[in-house]
Amino acid sequence: MTKNNKIKIFITGGAGFIGTNFILYMMKKYPDYQIINFDSLTYAGNLNNLKSIENNPKYKFIKGDICNPGEVKPAMTGCDWIVHFAAESHVDRSIMDPDTFVKTNILGTNVLLRVAKELEIKRFHHISTDEVFGELGNEGKFTEKTPYDPRSPYSASKAAADHLVRVYFHTFGLPITISNCSNNYGPYQFPEKFIPLFASNLIENQKVPLYGEGLNIRDWIHVDDHSSALDLILHKGKIGETYCVGGDAEKTNLEITNLILKYFKKGDEMIEKVADRAGHDFRYAIDFSKIKKELGWSPKVNFEKGLAETLKWYQDNQDWWKKIKSGEYKKYYEEQYKNRS
Ligand code: NAD
Ligand code: TYD
Repeated sequence: MTKNNKIKIFITGGAGFIGTNFILYMMKKYPDYQIINFDSLTYAGNLNNLKSIENNPKYKFIKGDICNPGEVKPAMTGCDWIVHFAAESHVDRSIMDPDTFVKTNILGTNVLLRVAKELEIKRFHHISTDEVFGELGNEGKFTEKTPYDPRSPYSASKAAADHLVRVYFHTFGLPITISNCSNNYGPYQFPEKFIPLFASNLIENQKVPLYGEGLNIRDWIHVDDHSSALDLILHKGKIGETYCVGGDAEKTNLEITNLILKYFKKGDEMIEKVADRAGHDFRYAIDFSKIKKELGWSPKVNFEKGLAETLKWYQDNQDWWKKIKSGEYKKYYEEQYKNRS
């Protein structure tokens, strides 16, 4: 491997929400590392996120599709580490169009693994989700040993990808690590996801579409805490291992809705209860004691504080999401809510 201060990281999906935040985090913390951002710029990819570093000689953007080995191989050549974020990531879209999720999340990951093996890449880190474990009732938490039980096309495609990553370790000796993280929040999240959708709707004085009674529970983690976990796994994680990463902040959707309403000084009348998501997982919660014990990681951002900062970011960066909401995304949103209220 190149000397530590010359590490070259191949990041897939770096123009999306978590990839963007991770690139900004790594470039600040490790100014000597080189970063290749490989992204096909789907509806969710946005290079405006990375304007502040686009002229940095340590950073390079390459437009390419992870499903296309002819684009992947030349871009990955010469890199030390792969950090694989690229995916179709929205559960509601996966219900409307499972095929795209199967293609990108499963076949795309397979292409990356095959090329990484050919190039003898030193580390392949795969970003996964707690949704692969299915849903919890009121008790218990997911651990690295929880059996997989995905229930949406999105989580099934991520689960299949996780299995392939482990296959490349066991069968072909590719040096992999995997992280399964809970729901992220923070700046640059595409405004179809719960928190940025509700924030941007309220700023525009529109109602917020709460699924069912809003009693489903998610564990929320600030995206910077996710980045710090990935940083540790890359530098100190054990090859072949999986790490569960959580934010220690379980909330019902209604609790979060009320916090967002309060921040924007709006009342309950702005809540529109809409038909529930098909197969809506009831609860996710993560036991992150393995990464805490083995790598000394724990989340640092307090949820209420992190949420308030995030809401301020959406208030201060209205151009960012208004461009998105008035563009191609508008059609999806209209289709999605046509028959739901
Ligand atoms: P996102 O939808 O914001 O970004 C995905 C990025 O991948 C986009 O930039 C898109 O252009 C790119 N992409 C999609 N298909 C591609 C392809 N075929 N080739 C190259 N690039 C492609 O997603 P996100 O929320 O940033 O999630 C990133 C990763 O983290 C995903 O793997 C997701 O499953 C995982 N994850 C997300 C969360 C969350 O709360 N958002 C939680 C746990 C895990
Ligand atoms: P989301 O951000 O789509 O993440 P995920 O489904 O991957 O957890 O949704 C978070 C929670 O918010 C989930 O329980 C569904 C709910 N939700 C709503 O109530 N209304 C909405 O418009 C959206 C997008 C989500």
